[in-house]
Amino acid sequence: MSSNARLDAWVAEVAAMTRPDRIHWCDGSPAEYDEMLRLMIHAGTAVPLDDERRPGSILVRSHPADVARVEDRTFICSARKEDAGPTNNWAEPSEMKETLRGLFAGSMTGRTMYVIPYSMGPVGSPIANIGVELSDSPYVVANMHVMTRVGTRVMDVLGADGDFVRGLHSVGMPLGPSDPDSAWPHNMEHKYICHFPDTREIWSFGSGYGGNALLGKKCHALRIASVQARDEGWLAEHMLILKLTTPQGRVHYITAAFPSACGKTNLAMLEPSIPGWKIETVGDDIAWMKIGSDGRLRAINPEAGFFGVAPGTSYATNANAMRTFTHNAIFTNCAVTADGDVWWESMTDEAPEAATDWLRRPWNGTEPRKAAHPNARFTVSASQCPVIAPEWEDPEGVPIDAILFGGRRTTTVPLVTEAFDWTHGTFIGATTGSETTAAAVGAVGQLRRDPMAMLPFCGYNMADYWGHWLSFNDRMAADKLPRVFFVNWFRKDENGKFLWPGYGENSRVLKWIVERVEGEADAVESPIGLHPAEGALDVDGLALRDGAMDQLMAVDPEAWLAEMGLIREHFARFGDRLPRALAACADDLETRIRDAMPVGAATAD
Ligand code: GTP
Ligand code: SPV
Ligand code: MN
Repeated sequence: MSSNARLDAWVAEVAAMTRPDRIHWCDGSPAEYDEMLRLMIHAGTAVPLDDERRPGSILVRSHPADVARVEDRTFICSARKEDAGPTNNWAEPSEMKETLRGLFAGSMTGRTMYVIPYSMGPVGSPIANIGVELSDSPYVVANMHVMTRVGTRVMDVLGADGDFVRGLHSVGMPLGPSDPDSAWPHNMEHKYICHFPDTREIWSFGSGYGGNALLGKKCHALRIASVQARDEGWLAEHMLILKLTTPQGRVHYITAAFPSACGKTNLAMLEPSIPGWKIETVGDDIAWMKIGSDGRLRAINPEAGFFGVAPGTSYATNANAMRTFTHNAIFTNCAVTADGDVWWESMTDEAPEAATDWLRRPWNGTEPRKAAHPNARFTVSASQCPVIAPEWEDPEGVPIDAILFGGRRTTTVPLVTEAFDWTHGTFIGATTGSETTAAAVGAVGQLRRDPMAMLPFCGYNMADYWGHWLSFNDRMAADKLPRVFFVNWFRKDENGKFLWPGYGENSRVLKWIVERVEGEADAVESPIGLHPAEGALDVDGLALRDGAMDQLMAVDPEAWLAEMGLIREHFARFGDRLPRALAACADDLETRIRDAMPVGAATAD
């Protein structure tokens, strides 16, 4: 029982439907967190890691059929189908509720239902938003402790009549009196990640992994919050937030939207390779941006921890992440070494001599298979990050100077491009293409449009969302709008090798961006936007192969005409709902590309 009647009534209603053996109200205490780890270890879900090598940490291995977000099982159940738009799965809300009630009936039998009150954003701050997740998974409780602010403090803010986002989650595997539990309970047949934006509800059934189950993250802070943001005039975005200090001591804050597993955590914690520049982290996955009393766009990180991609993370690529999870971390679907530490591909130059892979099989580096699942993750508190910015919990948020969009593009798209203005920046975001990754179930490496990196996370019609972005032209003074850029770290040469070294060297691109913001760097116009003038991008001391910079920045009109076709197809899906300003941007882009075609080249459609 709590002091909030609405919460009590909902908990009672859900308990009557799901019939758990026990109800536990989470207080967010360290003792409660330890108890969750103990329960997972006892159930065989987790193993403790070596106390000297990785103190206070565990490794969890999920079922191989439950390893990533399930986009094809994710639904936006708005009253009208048009309001979910062509990029979301839609179901009529009352019909979906009926299906779900059937699945949730008795689904928690034999288990404990945890009541997890959480705050997205610092507890009690005016920008924070409260949610309550009901879940039958100790893994969810432990991860929510790290990723959000959980417990009694939240209940105090909620008070007697405060409202909250309702998140209902079940792994969907009830237990009879003599049923043995599974190490990773989930439901093989039915998975549903459903959002009811009109009533601010989330119903998630059948999966225990990541964004499917930690409902504060993608479900609340992006899908539900994007709808709240539309209604209230702000932005809920799939963006990192970083603080950059120049050698002269000037501070700039930048956000960047890259699709899942396309480099947000890495950029947020980057160690600059150029002398005198400093980067600190404000957030690595989600930004809520509101117009402040100073008329500028201010961003807060609604999360309290990082749920980051493990494979590829090393002291060479992301040392600050490595330093963050030296202790008190939850690792999921990594390999474990014979001496009780975790391991994943590229963590060290040499593979461990003896290890157990994420599927619990012996592994010694000679096998053709990977030791860690490509979507293996670490969960760790942001407060442990050695470069966390002191202002990362400032309720006022940090003022944003530049917004970056980006994607994983092997071809066509240059290293960095600046938009002409906010409208063109919105167009660049809206037409972002990226190759799919292991962060979601499905094929990897397929080019798709992922507007603003929000394709899987926008809770309403994407065309209306673009209209909302465009409305900031009217909401803000032109000189206060952030500058917009597009970056691509992933262009490859003819041998399939990355042309750009990436990681710490990305600071060179950030330097040009900041110098543009400060009015100090030159740009030249290309058909697709503004590019660094000769010598404006600092490549001092960078060993690039001959011609690599030209290849990185090349705009091939033929390739861009082909891209134009994809953009047109993409926009056509939205029919009349597509904002006119974006259709005009597409026409202008095509004209500029055709003007850049060598004389006599193909001009047919
Ligand atoms: P989510 O947590 O899924 O939203 O992912 P993210 O956008 O935070 O991506 P993350 O920073 O975890 O990077 C994902 C993968 O991309 C890792 O394997 C990285 O090693 C790799 N990566 C990140 N930055 C770069 C880069 O600059 N160049 C190259 N080549 N790879 C990169
Ligand atoms: C993503 O896929 O963008 C993630 C991981 O950040 S998850 O929390 O599973 O959505
Ligand atoms: Mn993400």
